[in-house]
Amino acid sequence: MKKIKLAVVPGDGIGVEVVPRALRVLDTIADIHGGLSFEYEHFDYGCDYYLKHGDMMAADGMDRLRASDGIFLGAVGDATKVPDHISLWGLLLKIRREFELEINVRPAKVFKGIQSPLLNPKDFDLVVVRENSEGEYSSVGGRMYHGDNEIAIQNNVFSKRATKQAMDHAFKLAESRRRHVTSATKSNGIFHSMPFWDEVFKETATEYEGIDTVSQHIDALAATFVTHPERYDVIVASNLFGDVLTDIGAGIMGSIGIAPSANLNLNGKHPSMFEPVHGSAPDIVGKGIANPIGQIWTAKLLLDHHGEVAMGNLLLDTMEQVTAEGFLTPDVGGDKQTDEVVEALIRKLKSKA
Ligand code: NAD
Ligand code: IPM
Ligand code: MN
Repeated sequence: MKKIKLAVVPGDGIGVEVVPRALRVLDTIADIHGGLSFEYEHFDYGCDYYLKHGDMMAADGMDRLRASDGIFLGAVGDATKVPDHISLWGLLLKIRREFELEINVRPAKVFKGIQSPLLNPKDFDLVVVRENSEGEYSSVGGRMYHGDNEIAIQNNVFSKRATKQAMDHAFKLAESRRRHVTSATKSNGIFHSMPFWDEVFKETATEYEGIDTVSQHIDALAATFVTHPERYDVIVASNLFGDVLTDIGAGIMGSIGIAPSANLNLNGKHPSMFEPVHGSAPDIVGKGIANPIGQIWTAKLLLDHHGEVAMGNLLLDTMEQVTAEGFLTPDVGGDKQTDEVVEALIRKLKSKA
């Protein structure tokens, strides 16, 4: 029996609603598989934990998470309790940083049964590879002076190693897809980092045969992403550009509630982390209407990562059948509760067993 030991961090807001439901789906998948099981260790880290303990996680929290085969996270952040930069840097970004989760893979495609807001959506299917450890999210900088003279300085950091690694990941992914990589740049306006980004992209491109490449400024890219998403296969982007692009990707799929992500550790020293693209959605907490698909599709990425691609495909294909039958939460135009969608999915999965 293959056992995957998951550290489960539901976090805040709707994370607490969608994570347990996605675990039930994973257990159903394990039953169908027959030779696979999941073991869960639950962690109540989040903003309530902070209010009780003065920190977002226990002192030995990172060691305990490290002992897992993967981290399954919901969402972090409740600004009514803890300022976002404290909660995020104390949990989500801390894990990304300390576990060297330097690549964030975020797919977007036409999701069967969910109406894209685009008028005539062509059949797009793309993946954004987001550099996940540095760039605009560096902790280099500071604040000085006071009052009207106050200055905030935020230095962007682009290392050759992490930049090249993100690009290599994108090219390797493209080799197994439609062999096209777009680089999201802004070398016309950002003086140091983006020309450097372009150079690394050009250099990387010479190392892969038969892959078409395009370098596109992020502003123009953002527009084409909406008007012609079908033109993209793999997009490699810096941390912040990738963050914004993947919410646009979620938007053109129909809702931020359905987009998944995988934060990958590539050096084998730490577990990878799987979390949806969306946040804690404070405006719908407790209403029972959170779209569970982001968390469930994220479970598919986890299955893929652990070599269970057939099971991952079964999960996503079945999810799309369920949405095509009309099991839709309000964010995607339906009137179903989270539980009704999840129950319908589990029923259909069991019927295929
Ligand atoms: P958000 O993604 O939480 O919400 C944006 C909008 O999308 C809201 O209207 C919300 O109701 C809706 N939405 C999000 N997920 C949904 C789902 N599954 N089903 C239906 N509707 C959904 O973004 P925000 O409002 O900018 O952030 C709220 C909090 O979450 C902040 O504290 C923020 O820092 C945090 N956040 C955390 C993560 C993460 O943990 N990975 C990601 C983004 C934001
Ligand atoms: C995401 C989120 C995070 C990010 C925030 C919550 C720090 O928006 O995972 O997309 O910016 O990376
Ligand atoms: Mn984001």
